[in-house]
Amino acid sequence: MRTKVVAGNWKMNKTLPEALQLTAELLTRLENHQVKNIEVVIIPPFPYLIPVSEKIQSSVLRLGAQNCSEHPWGAYTGEVSAPMLKSVGVQYVIIGHSERRQYFGEEGTKLAQKVDAVLANQLHPIFCCGEPLIVRGDGRHFDLVKLQIEEALFHLPAEALLKTIIAYEPVWAIGTGKTATPEQAQEMHAFIREQLTLKYGAAVAQQVRILYGGSVNAGNAKALFACADVDGGLVGGASLKAGEFFEIIQAAAQ
Ligand code: PGA
Repeated sequence: MRTKVVAGNWKMNKTLPEALQLTAELLTRLENHQVKNIEVVIIPPFPYLIPVSEKIQSSVLRLGAQNCSEHPWGAYTGEVSAPMLKSVGVQYVIIGHSERRQYFGEEGTKLAQKVDAVLANQLHPIFCCGEPLIVRGDGRHFDLVKLQIEEALFHLPAEALLKTIIAYEPVWAIGTGKTATPEQAQEMHAFIREQLTLKYGAAVAQQVRILYGGSVNAGNAKALFACADVDGGLVGGASLKAGEFFEIIQAAAQ
């Protein structure tokens, strides 16, 4: 039985007071209604990691970061490394988000190195894959997702893969309000698990969590999370409102 994960990617949003308020509102809901058998991760911008980490100590919330360098230290102005994130209480790091791929040219080998850096520091990568609309239109979406996971993950030994969470995020569904149908999500998640099975065997593949991301909201979460191979969600816009994010958490906890 795979424990479901709901992760809220705040992206480049909120001031510090707003970030702390959102955290507090979420904590209140989690204190008032117990949710069981689920990992809930909040992923604020870098400057808020320490204050948010202090606020969520001794709660069920876990902390993630939106990116990290492939290098551990050194003269890389503007970068933040996995050992730094580890030292401030981060447990998960998003790697290969489509916005990093699209606006910052991240792909292939660089993403494999970032995954390695995260795992070398005993953190969990949340590795994102997914196709743009034009690729789906051409019917090449399975090939592209296969290539993305092969390039970034298939060098890992099984123990490392088991610490990794995969997020399937069709680019055409991110921030657009256009969600994949549960059938489309399940079809791709089953395909990803099949690729993991071919490479690592069924026992390993059955344990890897595969999240869906792309316009997940309180209205569609339940149907998406009910799919056999969908193990929770990576949530962007809807994670910025405590009430709606909490409803998504409840949808996964059922
Ligand atoms: P969205 O973002 O929920 O706003 O579509 C998801 C993501 O980018 O992880």
